[in-house]
Formats: sequence, structure tokens, C-alpha cells
Amino acid sequence: MDSSVSYREHPSYWNDFYQRGHAAAPRLPSQFAAFALGEMLTPDSPMGQIDGVIEFGCGNGRDSQLFAAHGLSVLGLDESIEAIGLCRVAGLPAHARFECCAARQAREAVEVFAEQHSRVAVYARFFLHAISEEDEHSLLALLQATLPEGAPLFLEYRTTADADQHKIFGESHYRRYLDHRATLARIAAAGFATVYEIEGRGFAKYREEDALVGRCIAIRNASLA
Ligand SMILES: C[S@@+](CC[C@H](N)C(=O)[O-])C[C@H]1O[C@@H](n2cnc3c(N)ncnc32)[C@H](O)[C@@H]1O
Repeated sequence: MDSSVSYREHPSYWNDFYQRGHAAAPRLPSQFAAFALGEMLTPDSPMGQIDGVIEFGCGNGRDSQLFAAHGLSVLGLDESIEAIGLCRVAGLPAHARFECCAARQAREAVEVFAEQHSRVAVYARFFLHAISEEDEHSLLALLQATLPEGAPLFLEYRTTADADQHKIFGESHYRRYLDHRATLARIAAAGFATVYEIEGRGFAKYREEDALVGRCIAIRNASLA
């Protein structure tokens, strides 16, 4: 294991999680996926109608599978091979693909997928807070370099005020609670114009946990950076 990375940030942690407890991980799509899907399929939205979605940190594939079930072509990426195994369920349509890949190594996969689709979106739920600051920086730089003008980013992450709240999955996950405003500023600095953002509760309720989250849709705009 890379000694600069703690066990909780390492793929072994997530491999153990998905191997041991995958029955406990939610299988139904998240509230954020339903929201994002509605935006992606709206024909007259400013981002145009999306035909392909790249999901970073797709976990067991529950959100990507929703997108695929609605006809969108999907590339789900996750560093955990156990998670990717759960994504590759029987009966997956040919337009849904899942790859074991760390975000920082996804450049070629993103470039190829973006070339093959006319309107591509990037989606990441509960991912930005699950990676280090350095990995976030690499991810934003990769998206800045590879996404075409007008491509939207859909992000949902835990914010600082969520740090002290009770967690269904306990304190063992690596969580880098994010300052919502500062996160939006980093996204803008990477050349993405925020067209929607909100911070609050009620967006990611799961059993007795109602996480405090930030959400945004940000569109690639080369004139910004
Ligand atoms: C909190 S889970 C979220 C899973 C899913 N998006 C959901 O909302 O159910 C974070 C996921 O990110 C993955 N992950 C963590 N660091 C990663 C990295 N650097 N590159 C790719 N995937 C990573 C983990 O394996 C895990 O599946």
C-alpha cells in the first residue's frame, strides 16, 4: 500500500466494504440520481439533451443503472474491483459499461467516451468528499482538459456542517467534509460555470440519517479557464 495513503482512502477499504457489507449498501438509486436524470433528459435545458454519462465512484452501480435504464449510455468508474463486480449484474444493457479505474487514471477513458457521444455529462455522488484534496485537484484538472464546451458536471457531497452528524455507516469511511462555497470556487477555477447549487438537508435522506450536503450543476465554459 502507498504509505502516503491511509487505509480508509485506499481501494482495500472499499473492497472490504463491498465484499463484507454490500447487502447493507443501498441498491435503489439515490435522490440525486433521480434529480440529475430529470435535468439530463430535459430537451430544452441549456446543457442540451445528454446521451452519455460518466460516473466517478459509482459504487455498486445503483445510479448508473438508473441512467442506463432510461436509455443513456453509461461509463461507471470505481477504484474498487469488488464494487465493479457488483455493478456488472446480469442483464445489463450493452450501453452500460463498468471499469475498475482510479479517478486520476481515467483520462483516456473520459476522452474516448466523450468522443463517442454528442452530449456527455459527468456525475459523481458522495465521491468528492471520499477522495483526498490532491485527487480532487487531479480530477478537476482532468475534466477541464477533456470535457467539451457545454458539458455538465453533476456533483453531490457532504459539507462541513455534516461532520458531527450521526452516520449509518459509522465513522470508518474516509470523509473530507467540504466547505460548499470553497468547493464551488475550485470548480469555477477549473473552468466550470455553476448554473445550479444548493446546500441543505432533505436531499440525501437514508433511514434515520439526513446528511447535510452540497449539490451543484456546473457547465464547462472554456472562457472561464
Ligand atoms: C461513498 S462511496 C459512493 C458510492 C456511490 N456513488 C453512491 O452514492 O452510492 C465512494 C465510492 O468512491 C470510490 N472511490 C474512492 N476513491 C476513489 C478514487 N480515487 N477513484 C475511483 N473511485 C474511488 C469507492 O470505491 C466508493 O465506491
